[in-house]
Amino acid sequence: MGTMPEAGDHASMDRAHVLRPWTHFDSHAREKPFVVARGEGCRIWDAEGRGYIDAVGGLWCVNIGLGRREMAEAMAEQAERLAFSSTFVNMTNPPAAELAAKLAALAPEGLSRVHFTTGGSTAVDSAFRMAQFAQASMGRPGRRHVIARRHSYHGSTFASMSIGRRRGDRAPEFSYLERRVHHIHAPYLYRRPEGETEEGMTDRLVKEFEDKIDEVGEDNIAAFFAEPIQASGGVLVPPRDYLGRMKAVCEARGILFVADEVVCGFGRLGHWFASGDEYGVTPDIICCAKGITSGYQPLGAVIFHDRIWRAMAADKDRWYTSGFTYSGHPVACAAALKNIEIIEREGLLSRAVERGKLFMERLREISGLPLVGDVRGKGLMACLEFVADKETREPLPEEMDIGRRISDAAEARGVLVRPIAHLNVMSPALVISEDEIDRICSGLGEAVAEVADQLVRGGTRVA
Ligand SMILES: Cc1ncc(COP(=O)(O)O)c(C=O)c1O
Repeated sequence: MGTMPEAGDHASMDRAHVLRPWTHFDSHAREKPFVVARGEGCRIWDAEGRGYIDAVGGLWCVNIGLGRREMAEAMAEQAERLAFSSTFVNMTNPPAAELAAKLAALAPEGLSRVHFTTGGSTAVDSAFRMAQFAQASMGRPGRRHVIARRHSYHGSTFASMSIGRRRGDRAPEFSYLERRVHHIHAPYLYRRPEGETEEGMTDRLVKEFEDKIDEVGEDNIAAFFAEPIQASGGVLVPPRDYLGRMKAVCEARGILFVADEVVCGFGRLGHWFASGDEYGVTPDIICCAKGITSGYQPLGAVIFHDRIWRAMAADKDRWYTSGFTYSGHPVACAAALKNIEIIEREGLLSRAVERGKLFMERLREISGLPLVGDVRGKGLMACLEFVADKETREPLPEEMDIGRRISDAAEARGVLVRPIAHLNVMSPALVISEDEIDRICSGLGEAVAEVADQLVRGGTRVA
C-alpha cells in the first residue's frame, strides 16, 4: 500500500495519482497544479483563498456562471427522486424526455430528434457514426469518410480526435483514424495570403472543398464537420457567407452538414445555436455539450433532422447500436433544463451580444500594444494572437511559449485567460459584468506590456 499525502493537500494527491487531460510530464514534475476550490459567477478562488476573474468560463462552458443555488437544488431534487436510470432500448426518464422536447423546440426547424451523450467528444463521435448510418439508410452505404478543417478541435475520443486537427494535439505514440478523415484549410482571416479579400478567401476555400470531394470521391463522403466559429483553434470567425456556401456544396453533393456547436451553442454567440441564427445555415446534425448544462453536469447531445430519423427508421427491423450508460442521465438532464430556464428568464442570449460588443471594444483598446498581432472574436468568444512583428505577422519562436508567459503574467494580476501556443483565448460566463470586463482587459494589457518589456530587455526583436 502507498502512503497517503496529508489530508487536505490536494495538490500532492493530484500529482501523486492523477494523469490530467493534456499532461506535460516535465511541467507536471516541476509545477504544482492550480487547485480551484470555489466559484461564484465569473470568480473562482484557489486553495489558498486567492481570487481570480475567470475569463475562460471554466473551459468555454460555464455560461450562467458558477455557484447558482437553484442549479444545486434542481440537481439535488432529481438525485433524491431518481439518481440514475438507463435509457437503453425501451426506457426513458422524465428529465431526459422533457429535455429532448425542449431541445427540439429551440433547435432550427426540422431538427426534432435528440440522441444524448456524455459530453462533446462523445457527441461528435456519435454524430460520425450517425452520418454513416444515415447515409447507408439513404441507399449510399459507401459514404463512410468525413471532411473537416485544420485548426479544429472536436474532442478526444478516437473518432473525434481524428476529426479534429490542431497542431500539437496528436501524439505520435497514439494512432488515429487516418484513412477516412480528410482535412481542408480553415477560414483563418488573419493568416490569409496578402492581398486576398474575404470574398476571395471564401471562394478559395469553397473550391478547395469541392476539389477535396472530387479527390476522395463524392460517393465516399458521409459528412462535413464544422464548428461555426473554430474555438480552440483560435476563435476563427469566418466570413459571413462562408458556412452557407459550404452548406450549399454539401447539399448539392449529398454530404451531411454536422455543426459542432459544443462551444458556440447555448448563448456564447447570443443564440441557442449559432449556425442557424448567426450564419443562416440549417445543419443536418448539431453536436452540443458544455453550455447545455453550463458545466454543472457532464452532458452532450446530437440533435438531428427528422429526415434522418425517417431514413434510419424506414427499415423497421434494424438496430441503432450506439449510446452510453449515462446517455440521458436524469440529474444531468435536470441540470440542463434548469440551466435553459435560467438563460431564458435572465435574457442571457441578448446579454451575451451586448457584453460581447463591450468586451471586443475593450480588447481592441489593447491592440496597439507590442506583440498583439490580432484581436478577434464574436459574442463572448475572443482571442489575442501574439506575433514578433505586427507588420509581417511573423510568429514568435514556439519555445518562447508566449501565450503561457502572458497568461501567467495575467494570472499574477488575478485574471485567468487560456494560453494555446501563441494565443490567449477567452470565453467568460454570459453574466460577466462591465467591471469584470474592464478588469480582464486592464489585467491582460498590463500582462502583455510586462512580457513585451521583458522580451525586449532580453534581446528579442519585437516590432
Ligand atoms: C468544438 C468542440 N467540440 C468538442 C469538444 C469536446 O467536448 P468534451 O471535452 O466535452 O468531450 C470541445 C471541447 O473543448 C470543443 O471545443
